[in-house]
Amino acid sequence: MDKLKCGGIAVLDYGSQYTQLIARRIRELGVYSEVYAYDGSAARINRHDPAGYILSGGPESVYQAGAPCLQRFLLDSGKPVLGICYGMQLLTHALGGLVDSAAQKEYGPATITHAQRSPLFDNLPGELDVWMSHGDRIEAPPPGFAALAESENSPYAAIGDLSRQYYGVQFHPEVNHSPQGKDILANFLFEICRCREQWTPAAFIDDSVARIRKTVGDEHVLLALSGGVDSAVAGALIHRAIGEQLTAIFVDHGMLRLGEADDVIRVFRQEQEMSLIAVNAVELFLDALSGVTEPEAKRKTIGKLFIDVFSAEARKLQDIRFLAQGTIYPDVIESAAGSKAAKTIKSHHNVGGLPADLNFELLEPLRDLFKDEVRKIGEELGLPEAIVWRQPFPGPGLAIRCLGELHWERLEKLRAADAIFASELADAGLLRRGTAQSFAVLLPVKSVGVMGDNRSYEEVIVLRAVTTDDFMTADWARLPYDLLARVSARIVNEVAGINRVTYDITSKPPGTIEWE
Ligand code: XMP
Repeated sequence: MDKLKCGGIAVLDYGSQYTQLIARRIRELGVYSEVYAYDGSAARINRHDPAGYILSGGPESVYQAGAPCLQRFLLDSGKPVLGICYGMQLLTHALGGLVDSAAQKEYGPATITHAQRSPLFDNLPGELDVWMSHGDRIEAPPPGFAALAESENSPYAAIGDLSRQYYGVQFHPEVNHSPQGKDILANFLFEICRCREQWTPAAFIDDSVARIRKTVGDEHVLLALSGGVDSAVAGALIHRAIGEQLTAIFVDHGMLRLGEADDVIRVFRQEQEMSLIAVNAVELFLDALSGVTEPEAKRKTIGKLFIDVFSAEARKLQDIRFLAQGTIYPDVIESAAGSKAAKTIKSHHNVGGLPADLNFELLEPLRDLFKDEVRKIGEELGLPEAIVWRQPFPGPGLAIRCLGELHWERLEKLRAADAIFASELADAGLLRRGTAQSFAVLLPVKSVGVMGDNRSYEEVIVLRAVTTDDFMTADWARLPYDLLARVSARIVNEVAGINRVTYDITSKPPGTIEWE
């Protein structure tokens, strides 16, 4: 297994919000990469025999007492080292150069020019746009180092000791705002560290399967399967590793989209041949939600009941040691567990709140991956497109899209309208690409209309479609008028009880993506 990883890169985390992005860029370049705490043991950091090290950025100042430091073994290894931002300052500080607070802080775009030929900037234009984000700067590089690139604000935008293969860049090559940043990282990987391109989804799967088998041994694993991409891919991966030792529980709470529960059960039970317990808890949830209209109360009711139903099923099973979750990197990004040196610490529990007697150990094989990487793994595992490319769907599901009281008939109306919108978007090629999230919302208001010769007085559907990369901000999708016209006509004609369709043209902020 470790053969796959020879030649990979160990990224040392000094607390930058971009650390995982560095590892992700390297994986995009086909080289294995993993993030380690900056003070991790040499045995751990070197466990896959990395071809080089990258030191991340971070919020501290290297000259302050207690600042995260550079472990000596990294320098003694004889392997190439690239320091990024704080990482560059750390290299400088450790090797006898001078770092100080910059008179002018630099946050945002900058242009650098290379001052000297070096493998780091091989085959790149003489002038490069990059993204800076730093308050300290290099005043004097360490002995043996030369300035490789300069910016208006600093003669040391990049430095290097070509004989020892130590490099530092003040800017962030890993972010999209440094358009040639990936080429610079590629030069570090292929020109300097002599890595080979061999990290692929198939290699990740082989490696994860081996790791899961080693961790789990003869024990049993339980998975909460929601039907979403992350739990589906985690499930398929773990199933490939340990087969019958995995049991999945799928709770149908009645708030799913049209046909979704049946699809999940069919795909995992029949196609994946997974041991799947499907719990039909629709009535239980509808009873508990009866009369609940306030959005947070809906969320709390569903969250609590989900834990109760799941725990009751879990207790019926014997000898479960691990709880598998489809946690992915963006889920842990704000978690204290995410980074030792990160400054903002918020608690984040993906599926928290299980009773104390269910004392499972967590198994989270996708923890280091981003969503698009998870999708590639899902495709490689042979999961159907409908699951791999499913849009994000909130845990409380349609409960927070069916505004007001939750009755089965209202949920069915919403499901029918939502399915029409989804199928028209899919036909127009706008479901998988073009909208990040798109759905129907049922409003608890009635409006007057005219159908045939009769006056109608029925409920209103809102169509919501947004474009976004990170779901923190979003814009409403500029859908073609013809498509909207078709969806509207179909909904009022095909869904009884709806006589008006509107399109939401609010961005986030000030709106949110969901309506509740
Ligand atoms: P908002 O509405 O806050 O949504 O702009 C941002 C993203 O989060 C999803 N979302 C949720 N996901 N449980 C979830 O698992 C929830 O209670 C929840 N509320 C919102 C939303 O679908 C969007 O992708």
